[in-house]
Amino acid sequence: MKRFLSISYVLVAASTVQAQLLQFNSNGSNFKLADRSVAPSIVVTSNERVGIARAAQDLAWDFGRVVGINGTIATSLTNPDSGPVIIAGTIGHSSLINNLASTGKLDVSTVEGKWESYTSQVVRNPSAGIPWALVIAGSDRRGAIYGLYDVSEQMGVSPWYWWADVPVQTKISVYVSSSGKLQGPPSVKYRGFFINDEAPALSSWVQKNFKGVFNSDYYRLVFELCLRLKGNYIWPAMWGKSFYVDDPKNGQLAHDFGVVIGTSHHEPMARSEKEQGNALQGDWDWLTNKKNIKTFFAQGIQRAKNWDTYWTMGMRGKGDVASPTLKAPDLEEIIQVQQALLHSNTNSSNSSSILQTWVLYKEVIEYYESGMKVPDTITLLWTDDNSGNLIRVPTANETNRAGGAGLYYHFDYVGGPRNYKWINTIQLVKTWEQMHLAYNKNARQIWLVNVGDLKPLEIPLAHFMDMAYDFDRHGSLSSTNDFIKRWATQQFGPSIAEKTVDFLNRYGMLTARRKYELLSETPFAFSTINYDEARRNLADWHALLNAVQTVYDSLDQKTRTSFFQLVLHPVMAGKTMVDLYTKTAMNKLYAEQGRVSANLVAEQAEALFKEDADITKRYHTLNNGKWDGFVNQPHIGYTSWQEPSGGLNIMPSVSYTSFNQTLEGLFGVGIQGTSMSYPRTKNLTLLTMSSHMPEAEVRSFDLFALKNGTIPYTISASNTSYITLSPSTGLLQAPGPQSDQRITIAIDWTKVPTGHSTALITISITSTTATATLHLPLHKFSPPSTFTGSIESNGVIAIEAAHHTSSESLNGVSYIEIPSYGRTHSAMKPWPLTMRTQTPATGPALTYSLYTTTLSTTAKLLVMLSASHNHDPTRPLAFAWAVDERAARTVRYVLANPVYKESKEWRKAVVENGWTAEVAVDGALEAGAHELKVWLLEPGVVVQRLVLDLGGLRGSALGPMESRRV
Ligand SMILES: *[C@@H]1O[C@H](CO)[C@@H](O)[C@H](O)[C@H]1NC(C)=O
Ligand SMILES: *[C@@H]1O[C@H](CO)[C@@H](O)[C@H](O)[C@H]1NC(C)=O
Ligand SMILES: *[C@@H]1O[C@H](CO)[C@@H](O)[C@H](O)[C@H]1NC(C)=O
Ligand SMILES: *[C@@H]1O[C@H](CO)[C@@H](O)[C@H](O)[C@H]1NC(C)=O
Repeated sequence: MKRFLSISYVLVAASTVQAQLLQFNSNGSNFKLADRSVAPSIVVTSNERVGIARAAQDLAWDFGRVVGINGTIATSLTNPDSGPVIIAGTIGHSSLINNLASTGKLDVSTVEGKWESYTSQVVRNPSAGIPWALVIAGSDRRGAIYGLYDVSEQMGVSPWYWWADVPVQTKISVYVSSSGKLQGPPSVKYRGFFINDEAPALSSWVQKNFKGVFNSDYYRLVFELCLRLKGNYIWPAMWGKSFYVDDPKNGQLAHDFGVVIGTSHHEPMARSEKEQGNALQGDWDWLTNKKNIKTFFAQGIQRAKNWDTYWTMGMRGKGDVASPTLKAPDLEEIIQVQQALLHSNTNSSNSSSILQTWVLYKEVIEYYESGMKVPDTITLLWTDDNSGNLIRVPTANETNRAGGAGLYYHFDYVGGPRNYKWINTIQLVKTWEQMHLAYNKNARQIWLVNVGDLKPLEIPLAHFMDMAYDFDRHGSLSSTNDFIKRWATQQFGPSIAEKTVDFLNRYGMLTARRKYELLSETPFAFSTINYDEARRNLADWHALLNAVQTVYDSLDQKTRTSFFQLVLHPVMAGKTMVDLYTKTAMNKLYAEQGRVSANLVAEQAEALFKEDADITKRYHTLNNGKWDGFVNQPHIGYTSWQEPSGGLNIMPSVSYTSFNQTLEGLFGVGIQGTSMSYPRTKNLTLLTMSSHMPEAEVRSFDLFALKNGTIPYTISASNTSYITLSPSTGLLQAPGPQSDQRITIAIDWTKVPTGHSTALITISITSTTATATLHLPLHKFSPPSTFTGSIESNGVIAIEAAHHTSSESLNGVSYIEIPSYGRTHSAMKPWPLTMRTQTPATGPALTYSLYTTTLSTTAKLLVMLSASHNHDPTRPLAFAWAVDERAARTVRYVLANPVYKESKEWRKAVVENGWTAEVAVDGALEAGAHELKVWLLEPGVVVQRLVLDLGGLRGSALGPMESRRV
């Protein structure tokens, strides 16, 4: 069991004091807020700022959900006998709170004037005849709103109670502690999400529930969720939608909730993409239609100026693509015009009070990098490559602009190399790693994430919002696990929280191996012949599904409904997809080999295709069809970046074999490491088995029927004293599940002669004289007893980066292991993020001891790294490496091409979810012990695996099984 280091986070800590405000038993010193017969009266004075009374109403209803009696809402402290009292409001606005503060009954000094902060305290004798009240005093209106929702949350109402049917954790009584609670400003100032690419899933749901209009009834639900997640910022749905037009109440509603609205990166001045087409006079072309576009912009400003709006600046081409004509000076002019219009059309006296952001999306960053002048008051919104890898973070003076810096990130995407918009594919710990890069460089003004349809991306969204709200809770290596545990406790109760941590980590790793939409690529991502890769990957899915299903079965019905949406569905649907494509690939191999079982596997694939549709239906009929439509996104049969045309899943093609008369005999043999098989190839040699094979490696071959019938077989080895074959006799029965038999080979190495030897395995069919002979090379050796490290097998050494023999710490720089990161085990990265560029001469090294068994003159090292970009262009990502006494060499492994050029190298990194740097070892590498040193030279370098190829490396997605370590 690995222990998590606690790493010291060097950045300034926010003034956040975490405390349990509520308790559920009397302890003599706490105060009863509610029980089954009484709920509090929540007092919000009538002159209070908009949004607070509305949130108070939600809290009043939450008391109904938790204890069975709704709270009431009042505007003054009139009726002292009516029971417990909550006073909620903003410092400076609420006359009640001002009185309490000025009479010294309430200390507001800790939050006053701060951003979105609050203090929740029990105040005695707030007014004549009222013995005490819980006072929630916000520094501003959202401070007060978050204070109200904090009570809901602590009481047992999840932010997801509606959006994921999370059961309310009911209580007999609710007490408030005398110690109160203080919540300082959020870590990131504007935190929220973008509803995007909403067809077909969300659109069909809105069609059914809101007559197809993204109206204020729909946004009411979105805004409430946003606030309950402690967010404050939304980019509304935009394809064929117009937030301010579709329902004229939408803009006012956002304001009334206290949610700031932005329009997306290609919708400047609060006007939708749709309006660019249907409300603008003339073309969406600045160079030819300036006058009309100015008017169009001014109208957008006029429409939204009285509400909280974060104005999107700049301009792109029509339909979210690059403009073919605009140059950097044009963009400068556009932004100048937009700023002038903002000034003249709003009542703001200075530019810094107008929230403006320019999104450096795709080609837009090119204008910026070419030296374009951007007014300092504009927030620069840095982006990822649409696949979760930040392209840039602020550097140098970009970290302290007046308008600040932010980031626009993706959990869902429509575009190349391939869409991912069906279900969740986000590895939470990668979000953690990438967000640290941005936060460390002061990208703290805006965090906005594209969540597609919103459902089913509940978990990555909750994680993102939690980091944005309170980054200090995410400062240690165990933070992601801590978050999952907190989150799972809230949704499902404490009993399965630890298990959920394990489930989500495993799920994240499996989806990190390949996104679903990419499984249709040929050849299949996971090798069907090397390293048992496809089979082992599928086995991981099966094991996860079994574990998750067992937990699901143990839950009560209400919890099942939400656990299904949040945990079981993605695992079940994901397993089915991977199973379908694994079976499809197996079918292809089996058909080539003439196996009768190819037909069975084809049938299984067809059944999995149907099962996928059944799983979709199960989701859609859940809770009386509440979520009908949300997972109807086609996901099977992609052949390009875009979903299959026609919007339907397409069954991958499978082959059925009829018996091949040219293949003589009744049976065949398939072996590991090659698609060649008997009888097509008469002389088969198995992969070498060595005394130091990887622990996970199971050696076997497949016996299969070529024709229908019953085929009795016997298998024998030339050296029965140390080779065990199981089973060694049996019957193939074709057709059916027994038309193939996997035979495993076990070796008693104590009896094998030292050095290289060859054994023979003979397969005979009892009814005929047909026999097949397999050659089995064996290699027994012993590394020196003093050696510790990784040992070659079959011409490769593969090592998880975390399995080093030593890890140095020098000049305040050391290595940390990010648990559950990447595709196979974990990842290593240097720390802290504030470190300077390291060199092999002065920086700390990771050392790996290796033992090779043959001389190699062509050895290569493959270093598998995360898919990160050179997010600080002045400090490209690099590592250095050296084998034995050879000089250290530095490798810059990220392609210099700008990401938006979508090069084939970038595509490969995104598809594989990592860079693989391949470097040649100079000169001959003798058999024996070696030392590999690796230096990670920049803080963004994340390394997952190392493979030393001595000539034996075979094609696969994840590389060889990890070598044996002694
Ligand atoms: C609380 O009020 C809401 C809205 O009127 C109502 O739907 C709900 O049933 C009430 N809850 C209780 C427990 O009375
Ligand atoms: C930031 O630095 C760049 C490059 O040195 C310079 O051109 C630019 O004017 C600076 N910007 C600000 C706002 O100081
Ligand atoms: C039958 O086997 C022969 C010999 O291996 C091969 O060339 C041929 O393509 C096979 N035919 C079919 C239909 O699979
Ligand atoms: C079969 O393969 C083995 C091992 O590669 C080799 O030694 C032998 O000569 C081969 N036999 C034939 C008949 O090709």
